Amino acid sequence: MVKVITYGTFDLFHEGHYRLLERAKALGDYLIVGVTTEAYDKTRGKLNVVDSLTTRIENVKKTGFADEVIIEEAAGQKFNDIKKYHIDIFTVGSDWVGAFDYLSDYCKVIYLERTKNISSTMLREKNSRIQRIGIIGTGRIAQRFMPEAKLVSGISTQGVYNPHEESTRQFAKKWEINGYTDLEEFYEAIDSVYIASPHGTHYGYIKSALEHGKHVLCEKPMVLKKAEAKEVFECAREKGLILFEGIKTAYCPGFGKLLGIACSGTIGNIRNVEACFTKLEKPENRELTDPIYGGSFTELGSYVMFPILKLLGEDMDEVRFDSIRGDTGLDLFTRAVFRYPTGIATATCGLGVKSEGRLLIAGTKGYIVAEAPWWKTSYFEVHYENPDEVEKYSERFLGDGLRYEISDFLTMINRVGKSGFKLTRSESITLAGVMEEFMKAEERGG
Ligand code: CTP
Repeated sequence: MVKVITYGTFDLFHEGHYRLLERAKALGDYLIVGVTTEAYDKTRGKLNVVDSLTTRIENVKKTGFADEVIIEEAAGQKFNDIKKYHIDIFTVGSDWVGAFDYLSDYCKVIYLERTKNISSTMLREKNSRIQRIGIIGTGRIAQRFMPEAKLVSGISTQGVYNPHEESTRQFAKKWEINGYTDLEEFYEAIDSVYIASPHGTHYGYIKSALEHGKHVLCEKPMVLKKAEAKEVFECAREKGLILFEGIKTAYCPGFGKLLGIACSGTIGNIRNVEACFTKLEKPENRELTDPIYGGSFTELGSYVMFPILKLLGEDMDEVRFDSIRGDTGLDLFTRAVFRYPTGIATATCGLGVKSEGRLLIAGTKGYIVAEAPWWKTSYFEVHYENPDEVEKYSERFLGDGLRYEISDFLTMINRVGKSGFKLTRSESITLAGVMEEFMKAEERGG
């Protein structure tokens, strides 16, 4: 019996897929089709898959060509599958010519001609109009957004807005996009905005963008007052728009894995979370000079509070803050201690003090540890009472990680994916509430 294997995502099943499977089956007597998992597709940079794994498997099965369907969940699996299933022929479409020649030591490799003028990418683009996104702000974060946004299909960065003409001109020139100093003109050219301006301006820009009917992806901290957070989410809901707080950890695949393991009982009941993030900033940078919105907690607090909220919930009994201040009076190092009915947590961040920057989750049966940069989770370990018993997990984290956040923002806009659970409205509102308490404790204006 000649056994054939092929692999693919098979998203939005189309004629090209059908013809590929038909010819693959004809190469032998028994066809195995490997369908990729969403997680695997994410790690290889395919971020906008529309159909669920079950739908994609169903569609492959419906053709009647597959004798067996398996799932492909990791790089390197093909080699093992070939051995495991005693494969004679490996085949894929001609878009992959050369890519799998290394398998020819183990079986025959055949590239079948690809069907012209059809692909899942084309269908995805046809189904959902390209989102024209505009950036508010021209600072360092805005610069990082540009290359990452290019990697997400279905989105096109249309323009940038900053009231300061020279900054706008330079940014627009560097990235070859349109520059605007007039907010009305800017809104006319776009469907959604990415707000990357200083913290204190977020609230105003979110409101104006929503009022102009634009979806909003706003950098963290989205706003610094609970009432403001509630108001902007309510406004987005009324207008049927997506408002999304950009805490990139929330959308990072490795962090999703960590949360899943932490919340599945592996380490028992979670009793303590310690999250630390420090970054030494130049004294002249905005983070250390803005008298109202500067300082370590407003800058990094969202990152360190986020896992605490995810793991211990939003109903804390008390939050206390302790800070070390610099000459300007701004906090250079802050520790927030959260007390819950059945646990405690500390969120530590620093812009003028360097620490190890670790995430530690302690439970009744064991603990999870992720070293810096855990906020871009790519590796973590699970430890137990017996120090020799250690489970190690890793997940790829590509580039700067903004691509995952942008991709989830897009799936929410197009209503093709369910990403809202990764950072809920209620969690964003709670985060704003803690920020507000911190500002009050500091007796800052604003
Ligand atoms: N395929 C094909 N002809 C097409 C499209 C795909 O023969 N027009 C083949 C691919 O070469 C692969 C299989 O179908 O062997 C599954 O491909 P997949 O990557 O799932 O489909 P694409 O349409 O290429 O998806 P995308 O646009 O997301 O890359």
